[in-house]
Amino acid sequence: MSALAYLSLGDPTFRTDRFPAYRRLRDHTPVARVGPDGTRAVLTRYADIERIFKDPLMRVQPKAGEFPAGIGTGPGATFHKLSLPDLDAPTHTRLRKLASPAFAPRALAHMRSWVERIIIDNVEALATVDGEVDFVEHFGMRVPAEIACRLLHAPAADAGTVLRRMPALNRLLTHAPLTPDELAEADQAAQFYFDYIGEIVDSQRGKLGPEDPVGALMLAEEAGGRLSRDELIVTLVGFFIASYHTTMTAMTSAVHALLSHPDQMRLLAADPDLAPAAWEEVLRWQSPVHFITRYAGYEFELHGETVAEGTQLLLGIASANRDERRFADPDTFDIRRTGNRHLAFTAGGHYCMGAPLSRLEGDVLLRVLPQRLPAMTLTDPNPPWTDDLVFRAMTALTVAPNGV
Ligand code: HEM
Repeated sequence: MSALAYLSLGDPTFRTDRFPAYRRLRDHTPVARVGPDGTRAVLTRYADIERIFKDPLMRVQPKAGEFPAGIGTGPGATFHKLSLPDLDAPTHTRLRKLASPAFAPRALAHMRSWVERIIIDNVEALATVDGEVDFVEHFGMRVPAEIACRLLHAPAADAGTVLRRMPALNRLLTHAPLTPDELAEADQAAQFYFDYIGEIVDSQRGKLGPEDPVGALMLAEEAGGRLSRDELIVTLVGFFIASYHTTMTAMTSAVHALLSHPDQMRLLAADPDLAPAAWEEVLRWQSPVHFITRYAGYEFELHGETVAEGTQLLLGIASANRDERRFADPDTFDIRRTGNRHLAFTAGGHYCMGAPLSRLEGDVLLRVLPQRLPAMTLTDPNPPWTDDLVFRAMTALTVAPNGV
């Protein structure tokens, strides 16, 4: 194995210069080892990553059937053990099947009117701005929070309270090493969600039909306890956790991509039916999630490397979505691209459950925006980005909604 194969994920050059770094890895080190003991491997090619996602023997749990000891034994551990992204079959298969009516076509049709109202109201608020505004703060953070609150029947005014506890719980859900204080904070956050969402569920009992996502899950809970109350609550909070940051990033990236490619914005303005394809292209071109983790369920060979059973696999989906072996001219943002089967929602058994809702949001946003704010202009062509390895995002995006 060459020295190049040992990658430092903390390297600032790697973090800031992402797409060229991904290309170098795809071309020269498609299985890159991380750390001196090589127990983690970074994969960056589309075909390799897609194959791992679709292989039912690859795991999300580090050890088959076991949860990490670091999650403790409190409410955080209960949360972790019921959380879809942290579970393998057979528990994952059972919970996922019970939760799937939440985003079935009937539920989606019912959601359209309130999703439209939230997005249009917030576009109208932007339209009143004379001068510059930060799109991230005034739209990107607001809209996903309002949508997630409405989805869960939580008052929009509670968004801040709900969001504030999320990072503490997320540390535990994403297997980050926790100090005793952080574990205590994660337990408090989990207990808050059990109480807060539990109250909402109880207050809505008997009022919601199967066309409502919470109603659909409550019916699964009431049908002889197939979905326990804790499972119902964790699944609902999971919707909030999984949707907030990803949707904020996708909406911000959509506006940035279109405003920095005026030819593409003109195409969209002239043909609003391009909105769904434009949303897919945003997700391919600037994937909100850069890496997804899996654990090798068995030993296998890849590009001459032996990957041992239990190896942590960091699957570079943002890289896969720019893989020239899969996409023609992958660095070009092209809203008329066809055959755009990107991996931003991954593939296989853990494929993003909320993808239909995200597509609905993208459709509404990209139909409305060019019509309602045709003069919108980017006023900072080089917005600041976080260098977060997994959730790379713009931290601000200054625009003039009515032009300069
Ligand atoms: C642009 C927006 C979104 C993106 C890019 C996105 C992306 C992802 C990704 C990468 C995963 C991990 C899949 C895996 O491990 O294989 C995931 C899982 C998930 N997402 Fe999304 N997501 C988005 C929006 C949403 C929304 C709006 C919801 C629900 C309201 C949602 C609910 C979920 C759930 C429940 C899972 C866990 C699925 C499982 O493990 O079985 N997501 N999403």
